[in-house]
Amino acid sequence: MRRSLRDAGNAAGLSDALWGSPFLTVCRGEAAARPPVWLMRQAGRYMAHYRGFRASHGFIELCRDPAAAAEVTLYARQWLGVDAAIIFSDILLILQTLGLPLRYSTGDGPQFDRAVQSAAEVDALGDPEQASADLAPVYEACRLTVAGLPADIPLIGFCGAPFTLAAYAIEGGGSKQYARTRQFMYREPAAWHRLCARLVQALAGSLARQVAAGCSAVQIFDSWAGHLSAEDYAEFAAPHLRALAATVPAGIPVILFGHGTAHLVDQIAGCGADVVGFDQFTPLRPTWDRLGGPAAISVQGNLDPCLLLAGTPRERLRAGVDRLRAAGGFGPGHIVNLGHGIMKESDPELARHLVELVHG
Ligand code: CP3
Repeated sequence: MRRSLRDAGNAAGLSDALWGSPFLTVCRGEAAARPPVWLMRQAGRYMAHYRGFRASHGFIELCRDPAAAAEVTLYARQWLGVDAAIIFSDILLILQTLGLPLRYSTGDGPQFDRAVQSAAEVDALGDPEQASADLAPVYEACRLTVAGLPADIPLIGFCGAPFTLAAYAIEGGGSKQYARTRQFMYREPAAWHRLCARLVQALAGSLARQVAAGCSAVQIFDSWAGHLSAEDYAEFAAPHLRALAATVPAGIPVILFGHGTAHLVDQIAGCGADVVGFDQFTPLRPTWDRLGGPAAISVQGNLDPCLLLAGTPRERLRAGVDRLRAAGGFGPGHIVNLGHGIMKESDPELARHLVELVHG
């Protein structure tokens, strides 16, 4: 539940414009002048502007070029007219600075040339403090982005959750079933917990530096958490997520998001979320009521990303928005978003239309 965000007041020393912004107001569970909306992965391949950058920059190169990353972030924010920016970066960069060589090949997604397969390989990972410091270009991109944003638009910093990052490290990339990850958890529980503890240290350093660089909220992506049972999540994942969320500086809202997590959302919320992200399979009203409603926690989500795919009639998109409103959205404590990242086949005009519908 909400980590005493209200008691903390403006402990982070935000400007009046940021403090009163629709996005941060709703993170605190209060009513805002307009319902805030942003889209996960809002800067990405569905946008011609982004594809233009990618024609001349590799993906990792782009993430490590502060001026380019800031421009991609700012352009998407402004073009869509959304209420928050999220820094252009990736959750996997920290695994690279911890010593796992990372590649993004088009089509195959991210891949590590070496996976973590034994306790010895866990212990051979790099120093977590150094790994976080080595993402200096990301923090510089945050500074440049904040300088370019309107005064009332927050920048969201982010990282992956310990479970999701450990799963990437063990699988060596994405996976359908995450069987190797669970095998590792069951066979080597002590090494698993050491791996997650080291990730927490590195991630805490990264979030603190993003906040120091001007981010006024953070989101932790536990994208593949849905592959665990509730019992395994409680034993192997939640303690580390909770430990990480607890390190975020006071007064900075923490958004915790997982996908395929309708069976885990109570636990995720309980890990110290000020805002919990619902995927599109999680029924908004009954789930939020169960968590205590807007007084206890804010909610972000949860339109189907496929509504934005090319060819969806505008009436269908409007019906989706109306349904979200009827399900209890748009009021105090609700941030409009998709249930997962925007897909690369999306129609940018539909994405922009969604923002107009929410604000209209
Ligand atoms: O939201 C934003 O605009 C900020 C940027 C952002 C990216 N990745 C940029 C990106 C964010 C917040 C992420 C988070 C991320 N990265 C997650 C969690 C979100 C989720 O979807 O659940 C995950 C699992 C990753 C790991 C990752 N990085 C994957 C699975 C991929 C996609 C591979 C593919 O080819 O589809 C990436 C690459 C990536 N990260 C791209 C972008 C814009 C596309 C890279 C390209 O330009 O080729």
